[in-house]
Amino acid sequence: MKIGFAQFDVAMLDRSANLLAIDRLAATASEADLLVFPELATSGYDFIDAAEVDAIAETFGAGPTSEAAARLADRHGMSLVVGYPERAPDGFYNSCLLAVPGGRLFNYRKIHLFSREKLFFRPGDSPPSVVDTPAGRVGMMICFDWIFPETARCLALEGAQIIAHPSNLVLEWCQRAMFARSAENRVFTVTANRIGAEDRAGRKLTFSGASQIVSPSGEYVVRAPETEEHVAVAELDPSKADSKRITEFNDLWDDRRPDLYRRLS
Ligand code: ACM
Repeated sequence: MKIGFAQFDVAMLDRSANLLAIDRLAATASEADLLVFPELATSGYDFIDAAEVDAIAETFGAGPTSEAAARLADRHGMSLVVGYPERAPDGFYNSCLLAVPGGRLFNYRKIHLFSREKLFFRPGDSPPSVVDTPAGRVGMMICFDWIFPETARCLALEGAQIIAHPSNLVLEWCQRAMFARSAENRVFTVTANRIGAEDRAGRKLTFSGASQIVSPSGEYVVRAPETEEHVAVAELDPSKADSKRITEFNDLWDDRRPDLYRRLS
């Protein structure tokens, strides 16, 4: 399977420009079976107030991002994961959607909100789940979900072969930590980060690029530069994530001791 990411500089509050960029980048990777875009890829990240979120948030399944992703999925015969601000009856969510060719759409709402996101977004209300796509079994998590290893572990236990990880990374160590998320769960992780900076109300955030794909055995299959737009597609075998055998005597799932992990829940 051909699996990749598109790293780019998202324009703050300019959905049309961002959808054009997504269109252009998807065309350059039209051979991909799965292409992952960053977190909040259609809106920008550092909202000043809820009015800004309100101006650009959209309903899952009915808004411009859902429509564009579904159209691109059909045009290129690829599955796409795209981060966007979601409008729901009970508020806003930092979400990403997965569009599969043929019109199927799935949604994930970020469950661990980072910093000022808590001012505008509600935390996701559903457990992370896995979708069967033509590219393999795909689980979604968003950016800061990485620092809670339970997120990736739950996805792996649900059968994910590939974890799509749209991001807007500002902390230093995520890319290194995602090595562990892949290795400790024996899954592919595709971290699609953005580049560029936002300078809003005196706050400057610089996004760290360096999007990457890590294999179930912990190899960095692809790494993007830190500051440039970059699209990468790699040939991967998702079934490599199916074996959890580590040594002749160790199986990652059989050797777990959930009876001794009570503190986790
Ligand atoms: C983040 O979760 N966007 C850092």
